[in-house]
Amino acid sequence: MALKILIADNDPEELQALKEYFSAELYQVETANSGKDVQLKLYQEKYFALLMNWSVQNHSAGQVLSFTKKNMPGLKVIILLNDLSLLDESADQNIDSIKKMGAHQVMVKPFERKDVKSELEGHQSMSELMGHQPRREGVSDELELDGKDEDFTAIKINEFFSAKSVLFDVFIRLRENRYVKILHAGDTFSKERIAKYRDEKKVQYLYFQNKDRKKFIQFNNYLIDKTLANAQIPTVTKANMLKNVSSQYLEEVHVEGLKPQVLEQGREICESIFQFVDQDKKLHHFLRDLHNLDPSSYSHSFLVTLYVTSITKQFDWQSPQTIQSMAMACLLHDIGKTKIPKELLLLRPIQMNDEQLALYHQHPQLGFDLLKDNKLVNNTVKQVILQHHETYDGTGYPAGLKGSRILMMANIVCLVDDFVHLMLDAETSPVETLKTILVDKEMAKRYHSSILENFIKVFVDPEKIMKDRTLPSNSKVLNKKAS
Ligand SMILES: [Fe+2]
Ligand SMILES: [Fe+2]
Repeated sequence: MALKILIADNDPEELQALKEYFSAELYQVETANSGKDVQLKLYQEKYFALLMNWSVQNHSAGQVLSFTKKNMPGLKVIILLNDLSLLDESADQNIDSIKKMGAHQVMVKPFERKDVKSELEGHQSMSELMGHQPRREGVSDELELDGKDEDFTAIKINEFFSAKSVLFDVFIRLRENRYVKILHAGDTFSKERIAKYRDEKKVQYLYFQNKDRKKFIQFNNYLIDKTLANAQIPTVTKANMLKNVSSQYLEEVHVEGLKPQVLEQGREICESIFQFVDQDKKLHHFLRDLHNLDPSSYSHSFLVTLYVTSITKQFDWQSPQTIQSMAMACLLHDIGKTKIPKELLLLRPIQMNDEQLALYHQHPQLGFDLLKDNKLVNNTVKQVILQHHETYDGTGYPAGLKGSRILMMANIVCLVDDFVHLMLDAETSPVETLKTILVDKEMAKRYHSSILENFIKVFVDPEKIMKDRTLPSNSKVLNKKAS
């Protein structure tokens, strides 16, 4: 059954247009043309969300908000505002005050209807998404169509997972700008159809439309949560799922920016990465034997997140919350690079001339600037992003900070960032790469020694560490209970 929403607007044309748009997007839509009408309808029926123009009359939007806040705390309310000048400054009205009155979001014109839809989807939990999507028994016919390549995202066919019914349209690519829709949103998932393409037609990738990326991330987050709890599923499968969802997430960050719902999805991914690091007994094998690295910047960010989370966990005093916000800083550590010309990012720093290098060295500051006014991101995350290329010996950038003036957290990211680049450039194993860093005195000076020590530990079976109470370096490890 489709999700039911109530739309209220005092402009009949706008109301009709919104109704048509959201009905076409498979919502069940009811409308109201006054605040009083809204309250009556809310009283009579249960809705998932209310989209209400701030200018509704005969019960103002403010009156309706105080009614919904008090009586229906679960209802998502999105306020549509024609113009900021409609707010009553003398009464201290502003977007924040409307949110305090009970609105989940305030959208000021001009906005596109798809932005309102995206906002609505951001509030849907997985069970709402799965439970209310329209379903058809069986599978619809395949449909060949034109589509721009830049509007589609490829997923390896073996890494594509679905629920009982498909949450979004699934395609295969025939040639440039030409696709076949092989499963329609709402269809029963057909393993046979996927298998036909994989086995008979040797198709390697399935595609979804970029507009469905949020659903893809949401579904995969949900799936990962279930998968992580299953000890039978191999570590590598779990890591691949996390890598895929992180990559799609970073793409979403690039396209959508750090909107509240985007940050929320990031938090869920970081929670999963922490859970993976915390619970997978064989993770040390995976971290030791990693190979066939994908050189994309997204998988770089994922690897940095995974290793940093593993190292940080070795510091006994870190709380899960700190480790998770650390993971968030890692996922976003290079976000400043989105403000640097793309051509420059194709070069490694060693290939850049002085001018290019100076520009490249601004990326930590640019990342910090992007986040500095964002109240939903904590200060440590911002500082870690700013300092992730500062080094312990003071040779880093942008500020050339030295020693204890650098956050320990930022120094961990710095080490892992160097480590991942080195591993990829030299095509050596993780253990070999770390050895290279340890024996190079100049390089090792860049990091606090306790971080290097804890890095070694991530490659060792944790049970063995506890049993022997010694490290390969013979440093003592305190028993957690005794400390
Ligand atoms: Fe960086
Ligand atoms: Fe990086």
